[in-house]
Amino acid sequence: MISTNINLAATILKEDGIIGFPTETVYGLAGNVFSEKAVKEIYCIKQRPLYNPLIVHIKSIEYLKKIAVEIPPMAIKLATNFWPGPLTLLLKKNASIPDLVTSGNKTVAVRMPNHPIALALLNLIDFPLAAPSANPFGMISPTKAQHVDNYFKNKLKMVLDGGDCETGIESTIIGFDNNDVVVYRLGGISIEEIKSIVGEVKLVTNNDTTPEAPGMLSKHYSPVTPLIFTNTIEKYINQFKHKKIGFLLFNKAIGNAPNNSVQYILSPTGNLKEAASKLYDTLHQLDKMNVQVILAEQFPATGLGNVINDKLSRASQTN
Ligand code: TXA
Ligand code: MG
Repeated sequence: MISTNINLAATILKEDGIIGFPTETVYGLAGNVFSEKAVKEIYCIKQRPLYNPLIVHIKSIEYLKKIAVEIPPMAIKLATNFWPGPLTLLLKKNASIPDLVTSGNKTVAVRMPNHPIALALLNLIDFPLAAPSANPFGMISPTKAQHVDNYFKNKLKMVLDGGDCETGIESTIIGFDNNDVVVYRLGGISIEEIKSIVGEVKLVTNNDTTPEAPGMLSKHYSPVTPLIFTNTIEKYINQFKHKKIGFLLFNKAIGNAPNNSVQYILSPTGNLKEAASKLYDTLHQLDKMNVQVILAEQFPATGLGNVINDKLSRASQTN
């Protein structure tokens, strides 16, 4: 059930239930961090392996002290600059955080979401929310309440409707290794923005073998329709001329596209922020359009363009 009843959402959570909940990045599948029943149910309905830990969502920077210990000054600096917002910090966990949430890791992933309804909900309850993105493992993340409902239907008591996610891609995940600031997942805050606060960063975002490297299984975020991510789209138009093609484009239409193809332009004005916010919804739509192949072009390699390219390359079948 999709609903805006925030009091009902709080009641379900207090009774160890789980809900779909809105954040500025993507919708999450949320439950009480301290409820074993709720957290187990999250892993179960998401079909997520238990070795892949969950992000803890908190209502304020002050609350961080209850989640993490030995917090590096650089983490406080980043939180002060970007919270509430699409930044997740990997920190040494407080003993009170259950191992089930962190998959036995000594670190906990934590963020303060920048969404009025998420924050209002967190203020109605006295516990943080463990929440992965509200999609079955390996599928496209949801950016609308309807996407969550489509995925989980009657498995969820409710999806709290907070409208369309403004950022539209997941949070950037950052950890600390001695004096290094390490980026584990590209997301809603660009590397350029992070560097403007911390100086240099180490990028560890391409790792197939260590699942503890966050969100980085190279095959991820996939639509059901085969997707090809390319900087030579013309070559593929010819190859697939007998198929129905769905194009995923930045700011311009393809002039010589076959008649039966469909074209989605993420930002006619060339705004990468707008393009990022529409990316997942467009993939959801393309998946429903009976196209036989999705041809996605490379976006400009700067700021959120790099993030979009990262997500598309993980969604691609050719990679
Ligand atoms: O924007 C987001 O971050 C969304 C919204 C709902 O907040 N959440 C999200 O969660 O994307 P999820 O579970 O789909 O991705 C979180 C990633 C996972 O790949 C997981 O491996 C990693 O964070 N992660 C969580 N806790 C971790 C930990 N303690 N150590 C290492 N990686 C961790
Ligand atoms: Mg996810």
